[in-house]
Amino acid sequence: MKNYAHFKIFFLVFTFLSFYLVTTDTHAAAGEQKRVEKHEWTFSGIFGHYDNAQLQRGFQVYKEVCSSCHSMNYVYFRNLAEEGGPGFTPEEVKVIASEYTVIDGPDDFGEMFEREGKASDNFPSPYSNINEARASNGGAYPPDFSVLAKARSTERGFPWWFVDLFTGYQEQGVDYIYSLLNGYKEVPEDFKLQDGMHYNEYYPGNQIAMGQPLYDDSVEYADGTNATIKQMAEDVSAFMMWAAEPKLEIRKKMGFKVAIFLFVLAGLLYYSKKKIWSRIEH
Ligand code: HEC
Repeated sequence: MKNYAHFKIFFLVFTFLSFYLVTTDTHAAAGEQKRVEKHEWTFSGIFGHYDNAQLQRGFQVYKEVCSSCHSMNYVYFRNLAEEGGPGFTPEEVKVIASEYTVIDGPDDFGEMFEREGKASDNFPSPYSNINEARASNGGAYPPDFSVLAKARSTERGFPWWFVDLFTGYQEQGVDYIYSLLNGYKEVPEDFKLQDGMHYNEYYPGNQIAMGQPLYDDSVEYADGTNATIKQMAEDVSAFMMWAAEPKLEIRKKMGFKVAIFLFVLAGLLYYSKKKIWSRIEH
């Protein structure tokens, strides 16, 4: 019989090596996109909930900085006063909405006209169409805020969905956005940056068309919080998470109730089974 020892050793080494290469971050090793770190959010975990004050600060950052380029089409002003959101009062929402100009119409003469925003309007886009948005941003389109935090993450169905509540898997998108906003760095010497692009450690390929949007004190927070880049990045990321998933709190509460229900049901079934079969087993 032939001795396959060499082959076995080769096979083992090969398996371990491939496993190592697959599981470790090869991108980082090649000096490319940096791995996104896990951030601790108030909305992480099964009892996670949004922090009203943080969402209000995040909204301020969106309004004063990001909204000049990014739309938020699926969010309505009235959502700002809904349960599990930033917790503005309906009166405050009216004031916020009235500061925006929206296009309405057509009127009786077939003309579109401008008017003050109302609570039932959605956030108006900064550009009239995608082409205008692209033309103003060197050909790149600033994606809509209402779905971005979700669009940059992957979601898995039940039962993973339940496991993921504990692992923070669901927050990948918002972790990425937070890192991205903190990821603008000096261009490394050996890096070829294309015209009109900006170096960012966390963006795939390291060049992004969006210039660094946040600098210390870009906003003056209404609640007096110190507006560092990190603070604003955290607040606006949390706000984007809410915009993408306004029902997160309700969903988590529901998930918890379902889990308890399944647990009790499993217990009942187990004891019923025992009872029904008891006479046969003895
Ligand atoms: C001057 C216009 C401008 C401003 C202001 C701006 N952005 Fe952007 N943003 C862009 C453009 C353009 C892109 C598309 C980048 C690309 O495709 O390379 C983008 C992309 C993004 C992305 C997606 C990155 C990805 O993975 O594709 C995020 C997240 C983002 N912006 C967040 C923000 C936040 C948060 C703010 C406010 C603090 C903001 N942006 C302010 C123009 C802007």
